[in-house]
Amino acid sequence: MPHAATASGADAAAPGGEPVGPLERGLAVLRALAAHPGPRMRPGDLARTTGLARSTVDRIVTTLTRLGYLRIEDGRDVVLAPRLMELGNAYLACCGLPDTLEPLAVALADELDESVSLAVPDGAGVRFISQSTRRRTMALAFQIGDLLPAERCAPGVLFAADWSPEQRAAWRTRLHDDPRDLGFPAVPPRPEPPASDEVEAAFRQREADARKAGWAVDDQLIEPGLVAVAVPVHASDGSTVCALSVVSHTSRHSARSLAEHALPRLRGCAARMEAALESPVPATARPAPAGPDRSRAPKEELGPEFLQSLARGLAVLTALGSAPGGLTLSGAAEATGLPRATARRALLSLQQLGYAASAGDGRRFTLLPTVLELGYARLSRLAFAEIAQPHLARLVEQVHDSASVAVLAGDDIMYVARVHTVRIMSVSITVGTRFPAYATSMGRVLLAGLPEQEAAARLARAPVRRLTPFTRVGAAELAEAVAQARRDGHALVDQELEEGLRSIAVPVHDRAGQVVAAVNVSTHASRGTPDDVRRALLPSLTDAAAAIEEDLAVVTERAGLPIP
Ligand code: PHB
Repeated sequence: MPHAATASGADAAAPGGEPVGPLERGLAVLRALAAHPGPRMRPGDLARTTGLARSTVDRIVTTLTRLGYLRIEDGRDVVLAPRLMELGNAYLACCGLPDTLEPLAVALADELDESVSLAVPDGAGVRFISQSTRRRTMALAFQIGDLLPAERCAPGVLFAADWSPEQRAAWRTRLHDDPRDLGFPAVPPRPEPPASDEVEAAFRQREADARKAGWAVDDQLIEPGLVAVAVPVHASDGSTVCALSVVSHTSRHSARSLAEHALPRLRGCAARMEAALESPVPATARPAPAGPDRSRAPKEELGPEFLQSLARGLAVLTALGSAPGGLTLSGAAEATGLPRATARRALLSLQQLGYAASAGDGRRFTLLPTVLELGYARLSRLAFAEIAQPHLARLVEQVHDSASVAVLAGDDIMYVARVHTVRIMSVSITVGTRFPAYATSMGRVLLAGLPEQEAAARLARAPVRRLTPFTRVGAAELAEAVAQARRDGHALVDQELEEGLRSIAVPVHDRAGQVVAAVNVSTHASRGTPDDVRRALLPSLTDAAAAIEEDLAVVTERAGLPIP
């Protein structure tokens, strides 16, 4: 038991950095998964990619799975889980730029009716921290967290003005080592490796042009058709904090006409942003992952398989997101419930690994945009059904009956995800299947989630038919069934859609508390009484809905998620 000592013992300076090691190695595993082209990796692949021992990878995977940051699929494949976006959300909250600037970016996108983005420098790359998207003809849509090579976008030439000689050297090395941009999964790779001296000369020229003009252009550097114009947003000390870009397509604008069309308003918006940075808006309150130390219980449960210093390091990382501008050492210790020495070691380690920096007077620690490389963009691309699916699968494992997620579509419910066991319906249900809302458990909880008048209007308008001898068809009866679902927080429908079929559903809420979907389990009507069904299924069903809601909340903290 290498670090099962008392808190102070474990905190003692450890030559060789053993207690820090697990954090560093855990982050390496997350990076490997995030950079992997496919969605899943075997532990053996992770060991090969990271150079870590297989037993180390196993412990890291156990720890990160227990924290909800990874998931195991099909018994052995390792997958990033939506909750991991907590880390990137912490950076976005800590840096404060989206909270302060995004409303202005959204207003600009509305004014111009074009996509607008905010990007920050990340090493020699360009990392998106906000996207207000109006993408029409564009094949490519960048997400928060995506990284672009500096020389293939508009913001990069603006950021290069502040590069140190070391950063420029690092950029050159990268051009040389990865000429096709394979290390940038968000951009199409270059078909042929370009001559790096030509790339550098062109970049220098664009830098000089941008310096003179005060703005930069991307004339289809990423892909044919995509054009962008960017202006810098400066801090009061003159440094470039971020770039504000407007993005369009050659079917609407040439690079030149986009500049003519957008520049005056881009500049006006950047000036408002610079003013806003002088008095940043207080960020929306985020729940601080307040102590006591959350790693204690899993450590007791899992023993040496649980890497407590990895869990604690990540707790410190997420805690830095509880306040814009970061935390002091004492603040981090308090927010995580960890001893100061433990928090300090994690902070120094995060700093050394390039995920945190000490800011301002040197007493505060802030997060850096590189935190977003830990799977943020990839997880941002998950569809609602993909978020729900693993929770349905787990539910089905628990209850051994089929489970589904559906949304309201007019007078119907429409299935968006399903995991089935044996088929008990006469018709097979797939994604896209519709049933009349009034006769289904999911329909009733979805209707119950609407304002009462709207639910009543929908019921009044829906063509109601007696589908089985049990179908409730009277207006008052149906209204009462919906009202009961509203009171109970669930709906049980007994053979009203199909004889022999009983189904129970609960709502799924978004961050704002709106019902956006429903999850159900369907079972044979012969299996006990309706109350037996409630007792047997409701706890697991409620847990599944809560797990989907938790994921939804993390995933949509910064960006919308279309729910079909
Ligand atoms: C974008 O926001 O998608 C974007 C911004 C600048 C570019 C290219 C794309 O140069």
